[in-house]
Amino acid sequence: MQTIDSIAVIQRLTRDLRSRGKTIALVPTMGALHEGHLSLIRLAATRADTVVVSIFVNPTQFGPSEDFSKYPRDLGGDLARCSDAGATVVFVPSVEEIYPRGYSTYVSEEHVSKPMEGLSRPTHFRGVTTVVAKLFNIVGPDVAIFGQKDVQQVAVLKKMVSDLHIPVEIVIGETVREADGLAMSSRNRYLSATQRTDATTLYRALCKARDMVKSGELRSDRLIAEATHLLAQQRRIRMIYVAVADRDTMESVREVVPGRSVIAIAVWVDEVRLIDNLVL
Ligand code: PAF
Repeated sequence: MQTIDSIAVIQRLTRDLRSRGKTIALVPTMGALHEGHLSLIRLAATRADTVVVSIFVNPTQFGPSEDFSKYPRDLGGDLARCSDAGATVVFVPSVEEIYPRGYSTYVSEEHVSKPMEGLSRPTHFRGVTTVVAKLFNIVGPDVAIFGQKDVQQVAVLKKMVSDLHIPVEIVIGETVREADGLAMSSRNRYLSATQRTDATTLYRALCKARDMVKSGELRSDRLIAEATHLLAQQRRIRMIYVAVADRDTMESVREVVPGRSVIAIAVWVDEVRLIDNLVL
């Protein structure tokens, strides 16, 4: 496995691979890799000859009061995990490499990014689309793998790829969960034991909504009310949103369309922000 921190070097390498007919899968990450990321890397290895993992804590997707400087970083451990999971190349650029002094161009999706996460993190998706567009230009992947846990991120990136005619296939890896249902996230390491117990309510609330749909309840207001009720019972949880939305447009729906609608939740567990979702 090669580790590269220079855009010029990785562009030369991927150009050479493409000229030799090799296919490339890209797994963009911000590091602090857990089993969820590793499952995406393993999925990538089934989809292409070369697996490039990028590790870059992207400053432009954090708001001014968010946890950019505190975001967990563990490059040594991440490189070992990438190698075990089957990565061929790990791209670890510096902030100056990606955003050189005077940088002033951004990519912004203007519709899918607006509700849900967009309301409470207004500049977040502009940072995500900008850095992912850059990674696509730098690596030139045939396929890019993202996790279903960030359901709105996936929808925004699919829209960006379609709107900007970027020749890459977006593949979604399933959410990997702990034994108690908590979705794996780099931010879970911030949770104390008691916060963690409360955090499992997210998945229980999602499953309750899914069970209601299975029993014929399609009204999203009823699903949202029930999920909200479950979350409200936990002292440490403050709800940011519970939404039932179309999985592609993220527009809220009054009635669930099974297989097309998603229930998504964002909460604060004390000072830790968590999100999760299920397709209904
Ligand atoms: O999902 C993430 O970890 C980040 O948003 C991504 C896609 C790597 C962009 O920085």
